[in-house]
Amino acid sequence: MLELKTRKTQKTMEPVTGLSILDHALKNDVEWGFSCTRGTCARCRCYIAEGRDLLSLPSDEEESRLEPEEIEQGYRLACQCIVKQSGAISVTHKPYF
Ligand code: FES
Repeated sequence: MLELKTRKTQKTMEPVTGLSILDHALKNDVEWGFSCTRGTCARCRCYIAEGRDLLSLPSDEEESRLEPEEIEQGYRLACQCIVKQSGAISVTHKPYF
C-alpha cells in the first residue's frame, strides 16, 4: 500500500508502478503542494518514511535541487519520484515553507 500524508490529511491507496508520487496524490484527491512538475520548484518535496527501495533513483533534477544529505536522509521531489515496484510505501509532504 502507498500511504500519503500531508499536514491536513492522510490517505492510503494501491501504488501504481510507473506513476510518480505526485501523480498518486493528484489522482487520489490528496492536496499536495506543487508547481513546476519538472523538479525545480521543490514545492512537492517529501520525506520517504518507508519503501525507498521501491522507488526510482533520484533524478538529475533532484540531485541538483536537493542537498546530498537530504537525499541520503530520504527526502525526494514527489514529481520526480516514480513507483517502480509495489509494496509498503509511506510518504510525507515536507515542503520547505
Ligand atoms: S512540482 Fe516542482 S519540483 Fe516537483
